[in-house]
Amino acid sequence: MVLKCIECGREYPEDELRYRCECGGLLEVVTELDKAEDVFDGKNITLWKYESWLPVEKRVSLNEGGTPLYRLKNLGEELGAPKLYAKNEGNNPTGSFKDRGMTVGVSKALELGMDKVICASTGNTSASLAAYAAKAGIKAYVLVPSGKIALGKLAQAMIYGAQVVPVSGNFDDALRVVVKASGELGVYMLNSINPFRLEGQKTIALEIYDQLGFVPDNVLLPVGNAGNISAIWKGFKELKEAGITDELPRMIGIQAEGAAPLASAWKEGKPFKPVEKPETVATAIRIGNPANWPKAWRAVKESGGTLEMVSDEEILRAQELLASKEGLFVEPASATSLAGLIKLLESGEIGSDESYVLITTGHGLKDPNIVVERFTLPEPIEPTLEAFKEVMK
Ligand code: F0G
Repeated sequence: MVLKCIECGREYPEDELRYRCECGGLLEVVTELDKAEDVFDGKNITLWKYESWLPVEKRVSLNEGGTPLYRLKNLGEELGAPKLYAKNEGNNPTGSFKDRGMTVGVSKALELGMDKVICASTGNTSASLAAYAAKAGIKAYVLVPSGKIALGKLAQAMIYGAQVVPVSGNFDDALRVVVKASGELGVYMLNSINPFRLEGQKTIALEIYDQLGFVPDNVLLPVGNAGNISAIWKGFKELKEAGITDELPRMIGIQAEGAAPLASAWKEGKPFKPVEKPETVATAIRIGNPANWPKAWRAVKESGGTLEMVSDEEILRAQELLASKEGLFVEPASATSLAGLIKLLESGEIGSDESYVLITTGHGLKDPNIVVERFTLPEPIEPTLEAFKEVMK
């Protein structure tokens, strides 16, 4: 197994500690597909069911993957898109899809003999890395934008015992420090530029195929640092290359309006340009300079998909719809996938008779404040039946 540059094609051995090619290009793992087993029988789904598709021997696991794929019947009918599903990644051990990347990434850290790991994070990556480092018994440093990470995620990173380092600046600023630290201070970087992390995340594609028994026409998901969309696309491509299926989905990436460098470049037909001061209520994707943008761009282009952006208001409305119509409580970033679907259906850019899988990336309890601040509770009532009867009127 080797690492290969997506720009110049240069290859590196898997045990070489590096995150980018000499030319600066992003690296990806070349999977040994002749060893990848056809295990797609729809049963006993967990991430490690797909071990033969993954580039690690060790296993630091908290039982990740195997997340539910719900048919969204109520919303599908209401929106006139009846073949609507959600892959709920909030059901992972720390409540987000990051656990898929971390089970593989932290396992790889141990294989490489590293005893310190580091990441920059808008919250979920830090929570996940902290948990897996705890399980592995190694030290984790997590750099987070000061004051801009959701309460639940901060609590997680702290209790799992990571060294939480708030940074005066945004995610992009924190990532710059982390990249330098990993180069100079002997700490293993587990942001999504790390190609092994994306290998874990590609299992979302394998599970969707395993659960549905077919490849959906479209996969919609939020795009922040742009790793996950690349990872899921790689998973579907490998299923095809391995001869398991002939189909491929369209990859549809959704960004928040205030942090949409990729979606705006796509829509305006202009070259990619970072956003200096990203801002959105969906703090998980409050990112102006997505490190994996070249991979994400290719995923969207190759798959015949698209990139879209949605407003904070549309995001919060979609969050409420998922909860109140389907019983699915997701964090704001995750709701961008539904908000994007609604927007694209309304504009007629996509057709309603196709199948759509929304990746709901993180649990709603991660960010309780965003909900509590939007709703006001009434005054308390007297503890009597009479008082409650008044309420029911
Ligand atoms: N959804 C959630 C809930 C996230 O936490 C993230 C990224 C994304 C979507 C976007 O995924 O970066 O692969 O495009 N969160 C990172 C973090 C940046 O630090 O937790 P992406």
